[in-house]
Amino acid sequence: MILVGKIVINGGRRLSGEIKVQGSKNAVLPIIAACILCKDECVIYNCPDISDVRSACEIINHLGGMADLNDGILTVNTKNVERSEIPKELMNKMRSSVMFMGVLLGMTGGAALCTPGGCEIGARPVDIHIKALKMLGADVVEEGECISCYSKGLNGCKIHLEFPSVGATENAMMAAVTAKGTTVISNPALEPEIVELQNFINAMGGKISGAGTKTLVIEGTENLHGTEFEVRGDRIVAATYLFGVAGTGGNIRLNSVKAEDMEAVLSVLRETGCEIYANENSISVWSDGKLKSPKRVRTQVFPGFPTDAQAPLTSCLSVAHGTAVIHEEIFENRFRHVEELLKMGADIRLDNRVAVVCGVPCLYGANVVARELRGAGALCIAGLMAKGKTVMEGTEYLDRGYVNIEQALGMLGADIKREG
Ligand code: UD1
Repeated sequence: MILVGKIVINGGRRLSGEIKVQGSKNAVLPIIAACILCKDECVIYNCPDISDVRSACEIINHLGGMADLNDGILTVNTKNVERSEIPKELMNKMRSSVMFMGVLLGMTGGAALCTPGGCEIGARPVDIHIKALKMLGADVVEEGECISCYSKGLNGCKIHLEFPSVGATENAMMAAVTAKGTTVISNPALEPEIVELQNFINAMGGKISGAGTKTLVIEGTENLHGTEFEVRGDRIVAATYLFGVAGTGGNIRLNSVKAEDMEAVLSVLRETGCEIYANENSISVWSDGKLKSPKRVRTQVFPGFPTDAQAPLTSCLSVAHGTAVIHEEIFENRFRHVEELLKMGADIRLDNRVAVVCGVPCLYGANVVARELRGAGALCIAGLMAKGKTVMEGTEYLDRGYVNIEQALGMLGADIKREG
């Protein structure tokens, strides 16, 4: 999957129709790492063909395993995984490769990797991951950007996370599966991706309970076996499309996505005046394109409003009637799409982690540059809402998390294509 190029959008069309939402990026990435727990073959269905998944596969292959993605089916064989170090060039491709740390430590006795410092959306330290692994009995040496962990055998323990970090919860869960005895994690992340990781590890024969609640219990288990697993739909991709149709007006149905994973997003959409119909496995939205601003939205950990949906929300609210105040509470540098929306005629004042969005009657097409993944999705939907032509550069960010967005939105009636 090498797409890159520029995205060209002729805006102003209403969206309508029905599509299946791609599999979840944030669910499948830790699942790929967790395959190492079984030293066997796993088959993962509904796997999105995005560059972050390709990077995770490269890491598996580098470690001595085999990962192959074909037509949405990912086959991972980890029988021969013996290496425990991930070189800097692979870490640089996907920062979240830090999620291999716990599983490598547990399965090979060590893990050596580099965290490439701050990224597009913030500093992203890994101190909470490291504290959890130390509690389980790891020795950890940090030298500059490099982290080396060692252990002669992990032991189950009680771990309290000072903040419910998604990645730290996943790292601690995977390491705890390899530990002797029981680990109890209090204040874990509650995100649906944690439930998905629990379900996957249990399908391999693991014994984890409590995902989605305030206490996770992990029994150390040997000899996990390979399994088949279907990844749930991506709630952030779904949110991007829902905010898109809210802004353009129209009527779409998204299949393979659970409303229970995105109640905070649906609640904001309702506040803007959209009508939402949801059943177990699909969400439909209707919008006349004349939105009312919700007064205030704060990004929070699950079940609060997701930070990953903040950029698409900002695009959508830039054409809503009234003023909205958006607080970004999770990452410190996550408003980089705002300067691009200003080029399109939006009226947004930014003060550190707070954006005040005064709705304008319409946006105008412009040349814009994406600087991070969800900002790229946000600029695409701004282009759909705008009058005239928008050309977006920075598609390598888009391709980290959206499978062929131009095809998906094209099926809903958008005039969007990739050039160059
Ligand atoms: C995951 C998601 C990302 C999402 C984020 C929050 C994946 C691959 N990525 O990222 O899309 O935006 O959850 O829902 O699943 N923190 C620390 N120390 C740590 C760990 C985190 O201070 O050791 C801070 C981070 O800097 C950030 C906050 O905690 O400010 C949330 O981070 P975390 O929940 O860990 O996010 P990720 O797992 O990196």
